[in-house]
Amino acid sequence: MITMPFTSIQNILDGRFDFKQVEIKGWVYRKRESKDVIFVLVRDATGIIQCTIKRDSPSWADAEKVTIESSVTLNGIVRKDERAPGGFEVSTNRLKIVGLAEPFPITKDQSEEFRRDVRHLWLRSQKMIEIMKIRSETLKFIHQFFRKEDFTEVSPPMFISSAVEGGATLFGVKYFDKDLYLTQSAQLHLEVLISSLEKVYCVAPSFRAEKSRTIRHLAEYWHVEAEQAFATMDDLMCLEEELVSYVCQKVAEQCKKELNKLKVNAKKLSEVKPPFSRITYDEAIERLHKKDSKIKWGEDFGFDDERALAEEFGKPVFVYAYPKEIKAFYCKTYKDNPKLVMSVDLIAPKIGELATGGSRIDDKEELIKRIREFGLKEEDYGWYIDMRRYGTTPHIGFGLGVERLLAWMLDLENVMDTLPFPRTIRRYYP
Ligand code: 4AD
Ligand code: MG
Repeated sequence: MITMPFTSIQNILDGRFDFKQVEIKGWVYRKRESKDVIFVLVRDATGIIQCTIKRDSPSWADAEKVTIESSVTLNGIVRKDERAPGGFEVSTNRLKIVGLAEPFPITKDQSEEFRRDVRHLWLRSQKMIEIMKIRSETLKFIHQFFRKEDFTEVSPPMFISSAVEGGATLFGVKYFDKDLYLTQSAQLHLEVLISSLEKVYCVAPSFRAEKSRTIRHLAEYWHVEAEQAFATMDDLMCLEEELVSYVCQKVAEQCKKELNKLKVNAKKLSEVKPPFSRITYDEAIERLHKKDSKIKWGEDFGFDDERALAEEFGKPVFVYAYPKEIKAFYCKTYKDNPKLVMSVDLIAPKIGELATGGSRIDDKEELIKRIREFGLKEEDYGWYIDMRRYGTTPHIGFGLGVERLLAWMLDLENVMDTLPFPRTIRRYYP
């Protein structure tokens, strides 16, 4: 590892520098003054440590002057001290102010709305720091999982010429003198790639012009998508439950400190294991009717329906075999019941839908028929149809929202809190 000529706070808290001289660099987190000593809590990316500056120190004047969120360099001797948060303290002989901060606008008891207005500053909060670290680890584990399963990572385009998930949520963009869209899903391009690579995945942004303000919709989100040739619905559900369980267990095991700070029960996460229950759409409707839901057969589940369903299971549950009308054009119908499609949603408590996947139409004529039925133009999908023309295969795939997965795992109120710069209809600054 590339080392820096100063010490990370975590290294000190780990007890490796007791009675040693250290240099630390970071930001002032809190400050408290008494008659003869100033206590400065300093944070860096790894932790927070208490530093003391005595009245007779040449740095006393700077310690008096330094403000919350100023950046500083400190030199001093580490001492074990039970009273200090973290159990260690740096008795400082030199404090240098690197960047003196103006009065920091974020103080205690401010509203969530205000924190989102000053998001660029709120990102320094302990809550956001822990979430961003877990997000980074989660992404790492997602990649680890697919590599371990021999999937090839591919890089799909963000500019696309034809819709994947229907026109209502498409963002149009000017592309030279053409009108194109920002991608809603990499699925169709991933499908094409299975004819060369068989098992492919990507983690990439998807864009949805979502006009409604909900706790689970973003205009830009990160989408884990995978496609696999020669695989069945059963293989698909196994793949999804293995992925979600792998990520939950790895996070539980390797992010203990961060989970603890966020007050998330790591044990509960470590208990997310396959198999997840599998129920049909019909069964889900029956269960909802028993709970007095007014939903009619043929309708899509609302947020409340999804939550009510998943609550019963306490962990994500698969719902499959949906009415054809409420799913996308590329969904394959069941041979023995053409009213239903091989589509499956993974639904989790609190957040509802985590993923949608299914078996894709592999027959060329059938696909062309469905494209027409959906009022789409065949010529826009020529390349997608070609895949069925030249050596078609049965295949499956799914898409899972990273932000929804994180919000569920960390029990967060809103998907907006799972990424640093959320984009919604109202929020695009900073
Ligand atoms: O259910 P969706 O729309 O399915 C697809 O896009 C498929 N083409 C995926 C595939 O099969 N490759 O989106 C998939 C997932 C949802 O289950 C949800 O987790 C997430 O993407 N998602 C959103 N997350 C945040 N904000 C939004 N506006 C989202 N829309 C979908
Ligand atoms: Mg869906």
